[in-house]
Amino acid sequence: MLKPRQTPSATPTPVSDTHLISSEIMTYNHTDEFRYFEGRRFHNVTKSRYCLPNDETALKQEHKFHETLRTVWQSNFSAPIANMLKKGGVRVLDVGCGAGSWIVEMAQQYPNCHFTGVDLSQLLAREARPENVSFIEANILDGLPFAAKIFDYVHMRNMIYSFSEEEWKFAVKELIRVTKSGGFIELMELDLSLHNDGPISRLLHNGRSSDLQLRGIAVKIHDVIQNLMESTQQFSLTEKQQITIPFGKWGGEIGAQMADGAICCFRTFKMKYSEAIGVEPQEYDNMLESWSDEVDEYQPCCIAYRWWAQKVY
Ligand SMILES: C[S@@+](CC[C@H](N)C(=O)[O-])C[C@H]1O[C@@H](n2cnc3c(N)ncnc32)[C@H](O)[C@@H]1O
Repeated sequence: MLKPRQTPSATPTPVSDTHLISSEIMTYNHTDEFRYFEGRRFHNVTKSRYCLPNDETALKQEHKFHETLRTVWQSNFSAPIANMLKKGGVRVLDVGCGAGSWIVEMAQQYPNCHFTGVDLSQLLAREARPENVSFIEANILDGLPFAAKIFDYVHMRNMIYSFSEEEWKFAVKELIRVTKSGGFIELMELDLSLHNDGPISRLLHNGRSSDLQLRGIAVKIHDVIQNLMESTQQFSLTEKQQITIPFGKWGGEIGAQMADGAICCFRTFKMKYSEAIGVEPQEYDNMLESWSDEVDEYQPCCIAYRWWAQKVY
């Protein structure tokens, strides 16, 4: 059951996962809005490479990842916009908002600002949206459905499974187009590769990278984003920050959560990834079983990046 919508408050209380669409509500969706594969639900948009599931399990995982990111960064954003948001009257856009964990939390924290979420799929439950949040179903690759220069702050995060390099260029141009002069843009992405990785981590990573590359997805976009932003010559300043995130139980709750998320993804794509690395499905299952011991031994970590910039013109 969905809980009643909470009134926006000024307190920066982390949002719980009650805004997630429950399976009860999901059943109203038309089947052609989604496609189903091996028991998982995916979007059904032809012009999109985005390949992660978007069912209840995936959205819960996404919410946990949101909490992990807030904890490791100790904030929901890095751009110098806190005063502007506190003052109010600010328009914020979140592209690829998913189930809305970031946008709902931000909207509750800054009730005098207006937040717009855009996503390929309607995953942000209407009933759970604070009054200062609106949602538009759209594909950024068709161009954002907004006039130029209308948002003060534009945010896009965790889109590594979504775009080719050319599509990233287009998407970043769209983010810039809809940002006001003097407004800010912020991106956050993970480098999917692990540092201090062991042999199983390396194989699994290779399987995932091969599959993503076959889909035309730019897996090392974190190496390119800053250039891509600076080459538009629309910013006075571009800042890059990075943070190391532990991977595995050795890294406490955060590390355990990161490993859980990865295992879930590696299970979802078992057939694709096992084929890519040339192992039988049973052997792949055994690898996943042994993986948690390996990560405790090697103590790997991954790196998350944030880039923010202020638009000049
Ligand atoms: C991994 S989820 C991240 C959700 C959210 N940004 C977060 O960090 O919690 C990626 C989201 O981007 C959306 N997405 C992928 N490609 C998109 C596109 N071309 N246009 C709009 N949304 C897109 C997906 O539907 C999905 O909800």
